[in-house]
Amino acid sequence: MSFLTRRKAIDTIGAVGETQRLHRTLGWPHLIGLGVGAIVGTGIYTLIGVGAERARPAVIIAFVVAGLVCVCAALAYAELATLMPVSGSAYTYSYAVIGEGVAWVIGWSLVLEYSVVCSAVAVGWSGYAVGFLLAAGIDVPLALAAGPHAGGIINLPAILIVAAVAGLLLVGTRESATLNMALVVLKIAALAAFVVLAMKAFDAGNFRPFMPYGFAAHEFDGQVRGVMAAAAIIFFAFYGFDAVSTAAEETKNPARDLTIGIIGSMVVCTLVYMAVAAAAIGAMPFMEFSRSGEPLAYVLRQLGHPGVATLIGAVADVALPTVILAFMFGQSRIFFVMARDRMLPERLGRVNAKGTPVAVTIGTAIVVSGIAGFFPLAEIAELANAGTLAAFVAVGLCLIVLRVRRPDLPRQFRAPMPWVVGLVAIFGCLYLFISLPAVTQGRFLIWNLIGAGVYLAYGARKSRLAGQ
Ligand code: ALA
Repeated sequence: MSFLTRRKAIDTIGAVGETQRLHRTLGWPHLIGLGVGAIVGTGIYTLIGVGAERARPAVIIAFVVAGLVCVCAALAYAELATLMPVSGSAYTYSYAVIGEGVAWVIGWSLVLEYSVVCSAVAVGWSGYAVGFLLAAGIDVPLALAAGPHAGGIINLPAILIVAAVAGLLLVGTRESATLNMALVVLKIAALAAFVVLAMKAFDAGNFRPFMPYGFAAHEFDGQVRGVMAAAAIIFFAFYGFDAVSTAAEETKNPARDLTIGIIGSMVVCTLVYMAVAAAAIGAMPFMEFSRSGEPLAYVLRQLGHPGVATLIGAVADVALPTVILAFMFGQSRIFFVMARDRMLPERLGRVNAKGTPVAVTIGTAIVVSGIAGFFPLAEIAELANAGTLAAFVAVGLCLIVLRVRRPDLPRQFRAPMPWVVGLVAIFGCLYLFISLPAVTQGRFLIWNLIGAGVYLAYGARKSRLAGQ
């Protein structure tokens, strides 16, 4: 069983063959764009309503809890990404710090984060797009607008948006990063407009009663309730900063650009989220907006701003695909690195003349659209959270283990108070994980049992380290 604990050498982790190298075309503004593009999406635009339903005004504490855990994870990511500026994110760090077995589990869990998130956001986008088309007089039949769970046959718009984003990625990283930046600006501007208009109707009385369902996650009237139940779903809104680390091999100046990209995008989003949550709760009594499928637009409509409400819906249509873009980009890079390590078939790691891994990008798009076409949003989002939480636990662990084992390594960025940061990331994520519904935890387990089978049948024998 020694294969489970074999590790990559940190000091030579960046040494790969020329044909397997990605092109360095990205600077820190691109990375902040990639980070914010990946973070701001279905979480703040839609799941804020689910969070408010579960915790009422105390959803604001859920934002603080999820944000705090993610800030600690982001600091750990920044230190590890600058220390090992190669693609692969948490999978790569685990491979170098803990061992091949854990690296595989994390790589396999990252599929849940990166691919399943794309499916979730594609389904959310489809809802907006179908509504938008209806307003324009085009009625997409239910059979083609929803999966079987919602009375349809296939969610075609969700499949089409995944195909469009995959096509964009095949055109090249730099082109897609530039377009992404423009859409990110639009997305933040829409949230800023929401905060300004909603704040005008701010009433502190709307924050009472503040925490009617208490802190811990529990069942109440057949529904999950409590601040932690809200935090376990609101967590979805925060991640995406880690997608920045998957672009490490494509950054011009990794030490500087990755630090600014990861911490910067996280700080921007946390501030924006606090403002949006406070504005939404303060503007509306009794959490009325929590049952709406488009909570932010609903609040503005109730406040007498139907035009801006429609505009926010339109921005969601145009800008939510940036989340899909960033995560699909990240997924293709993770598969690319796993193939380069021969944990997956090596031919998956080939890049074209422009430096794009074509086979994995197309393969990812097919799986992502398959899930998006047939499964419901909430379940997909919670499964994605489970995979991401596993990755963040591993990253917190890698931070601490490496500080103890290799204090000598030249760190370009040092996380402050590494023990506190690492332990908050580890135990915070574990607490969020146990606050997820039991059915999600079960699915996560099944996914990893399948993964263990794949690893024993392939990676354990074929991995690059096995041949040494
Ligand atoms: N943080 C991303 C979103 O909210 C996944 O859509």
